[in-house]
Amino acid sequence: MPSPHKTILAPSLLAGDHANLRSSLQVIESAPLEWVHLDIMDGHFVPNLSFGPQTVKALRPDSKCFFDVHLMLDNPHRYIDAFLDAGAEQITIHVEPDYPVEATLREIKSKGCRCGIVLNPDTCADAGKAYLPLCDIVLLMTVQPGFGGQRFRHDVLPKIEQFDQWRCELGLNYRLEVDGGIDLETAALCTARGADTLVAGTAFFKAPDQAAFIQTVTGK
Ligand code: DX5
Ligand code: ZN
Repeated sequence: MPSPHKTILAPSLLAGDHANLRSSLQVIESAPLEWVHLDIMDGHFVPNLSFGPQTVKALRPDSKCFFDVHLMLDNPHRYIDAFLDAGAEQITIHVEPDYPVEATLREIKSKGCRCGIVLNPDTCADAGKAYLPLCDIVLLMTVQPGFGGQRFRHDVLPKIEQFDQWRCELGLNYRLEVDGGIDLETAALCTARGADTLVAGTAFFKAPDQAAFIQTVTGK
């Protein structure tokens, strides 16, 4: 069922102009939109590299956006301070790699930053359930992470419903974020099942009418 939270569109800068990320961030600021999604890739956990804390720190002073940092790293626990220092306001970490997930969530929280877990499309919902009381947000990948412009994975839809149901049953208040292949059609499929935070890269930056895209996906 629809989320208790207002719907937020968080454009992914991965789909921006990598020769001029500041200008792509300006596009988001002037939409105007509140969040920017920053995809951090290490070439190990995912077969791609994007940008690091230095780039995030360089973008921070010129932006009022909420920096939603998605760590696609084998060892995210080693980079928490670096991204906090860079200006991250939320850090999401994957449950798949072998590192202390709970301790890392607690560390992010203890340092005054919002935190959450990320599950890949093939990762079962149960792999994330134990962490939910610590989460400000749950990010469900609707593509295999690593690249923008992929096709939406409809088989993740039941997982969205599951985390929406747990949010209600457990009396929790986390946001439910989806990421990958989000466009006008797939956004509606996700929000109808409880998603409230929509990451869009390609569909946002390539939208012929960005204002209409924002209005349609966020309903405002
Ligand atoms: C993929 C990233 C996504 C991606 C979304 O690994 O986590 O945020 O950039 O891009 P689109 O919206 O183009 O699928
Ligand atoms: Zn992402």
